[in-house]
Amino acid sequence: MNKKTIRDFDPAGKRVLVRVDFNVPQDDNLTITDDVRIRAALPTLEYLLERGASLIVMSHLGRPKGEGDRRYSMAPVAGRLQTLLPWHRVHLANQVIGPQVQALVEHLLPGDIVLLENLRFAEGEKKGDPAFAAAIAALGDAYVNDAFGTSHRADGSMYAVPQAMRAKGGPVVAGFLVEKEIAYLGQAVTNPRRPFVAILGGAKVSDKIGVITNLLDRVDALLIGGGMANTFLAAQGKAMGKSLVETAALDTARELLARAGDRLHLPVDVVAATAFAADAEAEIVSVDAVPPESMVLDIGPATVAAFQKVLEGSHTVVWNGPLGVFEFPRFAAGTFAIAHTLAGLSDAITVIGGGDSAAAINQAGLADKVTHVSTGGGASLEFLEGKELPGIAVLDDA
Ligand code: 3PG
Repeated sequence: MNKKTIRDFDPAGKRVLVRVDFNVPQDDNLTITDDVRIRAALPTLEYLLERGASLIVMSHLGRPKGEGDRRYSMAPVAGRLQTLLPWHRVHLANQVIGPQVQALVEHLLPGDIVLLENLRFAEGEKKGDPAFAAAIAALGDAYVNDAFGTSHRADGSMYAVPQAMRAKGGPVVAGFLVEKEIAYLGQAVTNPRRPFVAILGGAKVSDKIGVITNLLDRVDALLIGGGMANTFLAAQGKAMGKSLVETAALDTARELLARAGDRLHLPVDVVAATAFAADAEAEIVSVDAVPPESMVLDIGPATVAAFQKVLEGSHTVVWNGPLGVFEFPRFAAGTFAIAHTLAGLSDAITVIGGGDSAAAINQAGLADKVTHVSTGGGASLEFLEGKELPGIAVLDDA
């Protein structure tokens, strides 16, 4: 990565602002159901704390409508962070900026942490307001972005705050999580060990056109499943019954098929169901024989075998998007079979591009059997599209 990191400055005795992505899922009782994003930031936090820094940690949580939306308070996150860092004191500020934050920060000792309230409680965060950014930057001596999952957003804390920190002469650097994400995703896209195979799924072609376009000339093979495969199959003239087909994307699908030639692999058989429901009656059919009253909800076993053959011997694999409706066990077989195939590849870098595919690999219990599971959903997608992420671009050049 051509950006400075936390190794490039001495944090001893400094107050360091660390932007993290603690936007974690919670249940109705506000219990955190998955703390991967909190644990993923620990190497950066521990590194700074062990070297004598005090930390002002900040994140958004959900999409609250103003400060009154207390469901989105960082309180549960502060509790979890305290459990994960038992040797350090974690103070939760009850606001984002203001006198209470000021007082907490002034009394911080090396090794202490203040977690600011949800950044999106402050209007200036989404607006990228310079006065808001200056007030946050004034709290610290250095700025660290370890929020890979938010790096595609030019929100105040991601873009204006680092600029304000640079204006006052402080370092503006990447944390270890951002460094790791860029290393794995970046190497896969720009300098992969070949053969390089990309697997793309998810419901809609329109969400993935940017990724397909960016990866098409870089991959040795592109495997397409999930709802988006229906649109490609329909573009080849196949009848897809009641399946989700994006008619507006048919021309694009045809162009991509022509451009890709034999590098693009589509399902040869599918699991077709009578309804979009967990207990819907299902049958395995050829893609040439989808019944008019049925909808495709998973790839079939012949497709799994064909995809496995392509994946065998590959040295780099990037996967974004599930291959079926894996939330319903009856339609999860294709997604999980491919997850197991990736986990079993003996000499390959396997990168899971966040979001639903990360959820699938976690559900299959295979997260530690692949090389890297991205903590970014939208951010990893935009990275794979070849877009510049503003939260990374703004950091000090190495
Ligand atoms: C995410 O979960 O993708 C990030 O935390 C960004 O959240 P947002 O889409 O609400 O900006």
